[in-house]
Amino acid sequence: MNQQDSPVLVLGATGKTGRRVVDRLRARGRPVRAGSRRSTTPFDWQAPATWAPALAGADAVYVSFFPDLAVPEAPTAIEELVAIARGVGVRRLVLLSGRGEANARRCEAIVGSSGLSHTIVRASWFDQNFDEGHLLGGVLDGIVAMPADRVREPFVDCDDIADVAVAALCDDGHDGELYEVTGPRLLTFADAVAAIARASGRELDYLPISLDDFRTALAADAGPALANLLTELCREVLDGRNESLGDGVERALGRAPRDFADWARGAAATGVWAQR
Ligand SMILES: NC(=O)c1ccc[n+]([C@@H]2O[C@H](COP(=O)([O-])OP(=O)(O)OC[C@H]3O[C@@H](n4cnc5c(N)ncnc54)[C@H](OP(=O)(O)O)[C@@H]3O)[C@@H](O)[C@H]2O)c1
Repeated sequence: MNQQDSPVLVLGATGKTGRRVVDRLRARGRPVRAGSRRSTTPFDWQAPATWAPALAGADAVYVSFFPDLAVPEAPTAIEELVAIARGVGVRRLVLLSGRGEANARRCEAIVGSSGLSHTIVRASWFDQNFDEGHLLGGVLDGIVAMPADRVREPFVDCDDIADVAVAALCDDGHDGELYEVTGPRLLTFADAVAAIARASGRELDYLPISLDDFRTALAADAGPALANLLTELCREVLDGRNESLGDGVERALGRAPRDFADWARGAAATGVWAQR
C-alpha cells in the first residue's frame, strides 16, 4: 500500500489540536483513524492494552498526550508508545509538546531517539484555552483569574499548531525538526483578557491570584487532580522562562502565526462568549 493510503492515527482526536488535525487531514484526502477513549478503535492513555490495536497499520501518528506531558508518568507512557509504534511498523511520529516543561523535554528526547521519522511541535499556551478550555468559565463569569501577574506569554492559535502538525505528518522536509510554535506577540494575561473584552464587547476583568488560591478555586470546578496538575504547571512555566517568540510557524509553513487579537475577533464572531 502507498504511504498516502495508510491511515494517520490522531491521538486526542476530539481535543483542541487533534480535532483540527483530523479536519485538515480529511481535507487533504488522507485516511484518518481517530484515537481517544470515545473513538471507534478506542485509545486510552490509562489502558495500555488499547494502544497496539490503535497503532496497528498506521503510517504516521499525531501524539497529543492527555492530560499533559508534565505529569510524572508521561515519559514512561511515551517510551511504551514509541516501542509499540516501532514494533507495528509506524513510520513517522509528530509529538505535541509544551514549552518550558522538564518532563516534556524528556518525552521529546524519547521521540527524538526513537529511530522513526519524527517532528516535535513545542507549543506555547493556546489561545483556545479561553474559548474551549479551562478559562472559558472565567470569561463567561466576567473575571479571569490566573497565578500570573506581569509575566508575558506568546499565546498561539491551535489552527496554526494543526497546520504545522499536518505539514509534518504529510509532507517531506520536516523530519528531525523541532518547531517552537508561538503567536507573534508577547502578552500578559491581562493583555489577553483585554483583547477578548474588546473583541466580545463583554465587561471582563483580569485578577492575578496566588498559586494556592488558583488551586482552591479550580478544585471546586474541575476536581483536585486537574487542579493540582494545572497549579504545578503554572508554577513551573509562568516564571518568565517562556517570554520569547518561537519561529516554528514561519519555518514550517513560510508564513506568520495569527495574532491573538485577530483570533479573539474570530472567536467572538462564533458567539462562544455571548452566553450567560
Ligand atoms: N492547553 C495548552 O495551552 C497547551 C499548551 C502546550 C501544549 N499542550 C499539550 O496539549 C495536549 C492536550 O492538552 P489540552 O489540555 O489542550 O487537551 P485536549 O486536546 O483538548 O484534550 C482532550 C482530548 O484528549 C482525549 N482524552 C482525554 N482523556 C484521555 C485518555 N485517558 N486517553 C486518551 N485520550 C484522552 C479526549 O477525547 P476522549 O474524551 O474521547 O478520550 C480529547 O480528544 C497536552 O499534552 C498538553 O501538554 C497544551
